Amino acid sequence: MDRIRIVGGHALNGTIPISGAKNATLPLMIASLLTEQTLILDNVPRLADVSLLQRILGNHGVDIMVGGKRPGETVDHGQTLHISAANIVDTTAPYELVSKMRASFWVLAPLVARMGEARVSMPGGCAIGTRPVDLLIMAMARLGADIEIDSGYVVARAPHGLRGAEIVFPKVTVGGTHTVIMAASLANGTTLIENAAREPEIVDVADCLNKMGARISGAGTRRIVVEGVAKLNGARHAVLPDRIETGTYAMAVAMAGGDILLQNTRPQLLQAALDVLTRTGVAVTATNQGIRIARNGGGLAPVEVTTAPFPDFPTDLQAQLMALMTRADGTSHIVETVFENRFMHVQELARLGARIQLDGEKATIEGVERLKGAPVMATDLRASVSLVIAALAAEGETIVNRVYHLDRGFERLEEKLGRCGAAIERLSG
Ligand code: UD1
Repeated sequence: MDRIRIVGGHALNGTIPISGAKNATLPLMIASLLTEQTLILDNVPRLADVSLLQRILGNHGVDIMVGGKRPGETVDHGQTLHISAANIVDTTAPYELVSKMRASFWVLAPLVARMGEARVSMPGGCAIGTRPVDLLIMAMARLGADIEIDSGYVVARAPHGLRGAEIVFPKVTVGGTHTVIMAASLANGTTLIENAAREPEIVDVADCLNKMGARISGAGTRRIVVEGVAKLNGARHAVLPDRIETGTYAMAVAMAGGDILLQNTRPQLLQAALDVLTRTGVAVTATNQGIRIARNGGGLAPVEVTTAPFPDFPTDLQAQLMALMTRADGTSHIVETVFENRFMHVQELARLGARIQLDGEKATIEGVERLKGAPVMATDLRASVSLVIAALAAEGETIVNRVYHLDRGFERLEEKLGRCGAAIERLSG
């Protein structure tokens, strides 16, 4: 199993290109199931989760071709996928595949919408709290699917098609919103979603579906209206920049010090997180190429932050901010309201010398003068990158074990940080 070795104490200077968003790529690839025609996706990141979803879709009969590079393109440009679900040969998504990545459960909606049936294993995925799918199932039932739970599988049938409905989510859910947008696009009649997720990835997927012929309005607001159409077509769409990768590197610079341009990204995607960084004393500047983050000398002020759905501070940056606050000049508080038990990084950060106390959903982080390198274990995707951030400021060597978690969501992390001066390398095997 690969490990990552980091020697702390090196400032970061230069440019980091930001990849296409994992959390948009996955539902966009899944949306290909809605049409017989080819969907072309540009700016797709090279990530383990993307390869896994390629296998999952392949199991349904979807053909995916990776396009060649165009003149002038380097590895910093994402890949282009040509995805064709002309022939869906199997509407079952098996446990062995779905259990590896939670988002693959989302194939349920397009399979039922187009094929009238699907049998999808209940998901596994990141071990962050209980992550049920009850709201996704509720939404599919509201749209007219008959639902049965059979030996760990959700079996959904709508042989005569789905029908538009009013769906009020009691809790904001990204996966639930993606599910309804996809299913309702091919339903009979109009669907209204209340309390919809407003994440930029929802807007990106809705934009792509509209290019495919869907009629979705209001994406990015709490109220989305989808008028069903009989058929969707192929389209070409470029995945939006990854706001979590952007925020992660912004925090890495804040931690290590230095001056970095985060290229091909936009501040509007993570304004709440950038505002928090500004409050810590880091200089954040929007440029026409991206976002510049600088911290030269100067300490880090502590902050009070509560995670919440977009446009508030994202839960997917909570662990990274916590790593940063371990070195603040004072005590910070972070309240996690999106997922319960999303604090697995706390114990590992403590191994590096962090002082963090947990009380239910609230973490109290007392800034320390120094962190010291140690062997640590990656536990989930975002938690593992928080260990990398802490290691950048820790004295001596940190070895991060189980980096397959990192490979699920961060493209060429060691190369991107290494090019900017970090002492970081991958140890294979
Ligand atoms: C997506 C993101 C993930 C991010 C999360 C919240 C992808 C691939 N993943 O996950 O990175 O951390 O949004 O921004 O885009 N819930 C229920 N019942 C349900 C569904 C969700 O109770 O049926 C709860 C969850 O347990 C959680 C909250 O709703 O407490 C939000 O989850 P949700 O927005 O659905 O997260 P995901 O879509 O799984």
